[in-house]
Amino acid sequence: MKKNIVIAIDGYSSCGKSTLAKALAQKLNYIYIDSGAMYRAVTLFFLRQGIDLSSHAAISNALQHIDIDFHSRDYQSHVLLNGEEVSEEIRQMPVSQKVSEIAAIKEVRQCMVKQQQKMGKQKNIVMDGRDIGTTVFPDAYLKLFMTADPKTRAERRYKELQAKGENVSLEAVFDNLAHRDFQDTTREVSPLVRATDAVILDNTNLNQDEQLAFTMAYLPVI
Ligand code: DC
Repeated sequence: MKKNIVIAIDGYSSCGKSTLAKALAQKLNYIYIDSGAMYRAVTLFFLRQGIDLSSHAAISNALQHIDIDFHSRDYQSHVLLNGEEVSEEIRQMPVSQKVSEIAAIKEVRQCMVKQQQKMGKQKNIVMDGRDIGTTVFPDAYLKLFMTADPKTRAERRYKELQAKGENVSLEAVFDNLAHRDFQDTTREVSPLVRATDAVILDNTNLNQDEQLAFTMAYLPVI
C-alpha cells in the first residue's frame, strides 16, 4: 500500500508555521492540520469545565469527553470542539495564557498524539506544531524547524491580534511568547527541540513567497 506523505513543521510560537503550512497544503493539495489548535481546544474545554489540573483522574476523564474535528475550507482550519466552532475563541488570550501548561500534561499529549497519527494514516498532510518531527511523525518525508527573531514574532502577532480587535499590548504579547517558548522547550514530555534531520527555516527576513519557495526546493519529487 502506498504510504501517505507527511510534512512536519515545528518551531517556536508565532513563527508563521501555520501560514507556511496552509500555503504548502494548498500548493500540494494536501490536508493541513494545526496540532496547536487541538491543544488549544483541550485548554478551552478544561477552562470552561474548571478541570482540576492536579488530578490525573479528572484529566483522563475530561479527555474522554472531548471530540476535536477540523473543517477545512479554503485551506483555513476551522476547529470544532464537540461540534461547536471555536476557531476564534481558542486564539484569545485566556486560552493562550494557559495552553502551554495544559500541553505539558502527559495524558493530554498521549491523547492528542494518538489522534494526530491517525490523521496521518488517512491522507497526505502538512501538520504544524512543536513535536511533529520528533514524536508524532519521526519518519516524516520533510521536517522543517522554523524560527525567527523574538521581537519580530511579537510584532507580527500583535498586529494580527489588533486587526481582530483584541485589546492587548505589544509587551503582553512579547511576554506571552517568551513564556510559551520557555514552557514548550523545558517541559518533560516531548519538549520543543529540532529533530536532528529537520531543515532550519529562519524567516525573520523572509516574506511568505520566499518561505514557500525555500520549502518547495526540498520537495522536488512530489
Ligand atoms: O501553535 P500554537 O501556538 O497554536 O500552539 C499552542 C500551544 O500548544 C503551544 O504553546 C504549545 C502547544 N503545542 C504543543 O505542545 N505541541 C504541539 N504539537 C502543538 C502545540
